Amino acid sequence: MTPSPNTTLLIRNARVLLPDGSFQSADVWVEGGVIREIGPNLDRFRKAEASAQAEATPTPTADTVIDAHQLPLLPGVIDPQVHFREPGLEHKEDLTTASRACARGGVTSFLEMPNTKPLTINQAALNDKLTRAAQKSFVNFGFFIGATSENLPDLQTATPTPGIKIFMGSMHGDLLVDQESSLDRIFATGTRLIAVHAEDQARIAERRKEFAGSTDPAIHSVIQDNQAALNATQLALKLSKKYQRRLHILHLSTAEEAELLRQDKPAWVTAEVTPQHLLLNTGDYEKLGTLIKMNPPIRSTHDNEVLWQALQDGVIDFIATDHAPHTLAEKGQANTTNPADEEASATTVFLEPAQVPSGMPGVETSLPLMLTQAMQGRCTVAQVSHWMSTAVAKAYGIVGKGSIAPGYDADLILVDLDNYHPVLREELQTKCGWSPFEGWNLTGWPAVTIVGGQVVYDRGEFNQQVRGRALMFNA
Ligand code: DOR
Repeated sequence: MTPSPNTTLLIRNARVLLPDGSFQSADVWVEGGVIREIGPNLDRFRKAEASAQAEATPTPTADTVIDAHQLPLLPGVIDPQVHFREPGLEHKEDLTTASRACARGGVTSFLEMPNTKPLTINQAALNDKLTRAAQKSFVNFGFFIGATSENLPDLQTATPTPGIKIFMGSMHGDLLVDQESSLDRIFATGTRLIAVHAEDQARIAERRKEFAGSTDPAIHSVIQDNQAALNATQLALKLSKKYQRRLHILHLSTAEEAELLRQDKPAWVTAEVTPQHLLLNTGDYEKLGTLIKMNPPIRSTHDNEVLWQALQDGVIDFIATDHAPHTLAEKGQANTTNPADEEASATTVFLEPAQVPSGMPGVETSLPLMLTQAMQGRCTVAQVSHWMSTAVAKAYGIVGKGSIAPGYDADLILVDLDNYHPVLREELQTKCGWSPFEGWNLTGWPAVTIVGGQVVYDRGEFNQQVRGRALMFNA
């Protein structure tokens, strides 16, 4: 269901986050999914207008009226790196469950990665994902085109897409592009954004042999070490400078990479960090084991600190979750009460840490995790919104998103910053059914999530009718 051009929504009495980072107590008037007006007492104004036109039959103020009771109203989160597993890996996640998790987490748009089955490496595969998402997704969507060593023409023509995804490391199969000659060809051809997963595959392969046989989950951070990440980031930066090619560095994880970018970051380069690389560290393996095995791996508390500072200073531009769900059985922590695991367990139960797949879910918890940091004084609410929405829209040229202003799409969230609520397994919407943050007591949970002027989530209830739209990119 997409809103008709005349459908109206009035949000009364909100603390609206404006593009300059200030909050204004105001109403927001939405028509046909687009913000038309922001100001005090729009309610009274509309009522007066309506009754002047039809004195005898009072016209409702708007088709939908929400009283925000002074909750902060933020632009919806845009998560620019997720793995939603459809098509081909739906036992872990699918577009329905993932986008429902988005709605609960305040994520109104996502950019999804190409390592599905089949891989998203040509227009046909991209079209298939766009069709599926239009039918199923509760929020707005965009899909990366994946680079192989063979699909250079597709990388130039596939559309719409936020850009080209290159796995320089940590990926098996055709999506791995780790030879400098192949990478050079991709950087040399065309102009669209290239997003890299920067890990040095050759170094990782060597170190895997060296540490073979370890049963300690923490060995993952030793094998895929800081140097492996730094090597690949240096190479991507070198190629980007050689061709002045728009480069985005996905999930920056090390102090060394942050310092490199602090010294040397051309205007056409952006970088992101995940909440887990800010908030978890190698000490957490003891409790969470393979659940926090991911690529790039969790690092030290020193890396946490340097990444935070780089984010504060604008060396890192924005936040992504790298939502990458695997079932508990796949993670070697089988739980037969989870239906997703029953399906998966017939074929995939791994117990050796080295064989456990990398990745963890994140779209449902990223905003409360970051807003909790804000409420604890680590940053401001306006900064969190900038990192999770405004800066993402700007970097990817996403049309009509990322700000609350007339003319922008009404992708909006009302968040509750006064109450704390823990991450509970039974409330999670992601199909994998777990989170490494279970038990964390968080504030800033979305009370209401609005996509294209339609309420998709309201305090635990989902509107099953709402569908997002394909994002457009003006890069
Ligand atoms: O940990 C990860 N898991 N990192 C990636 O880049 C891929 C992801 C996945 O798809 O499972």
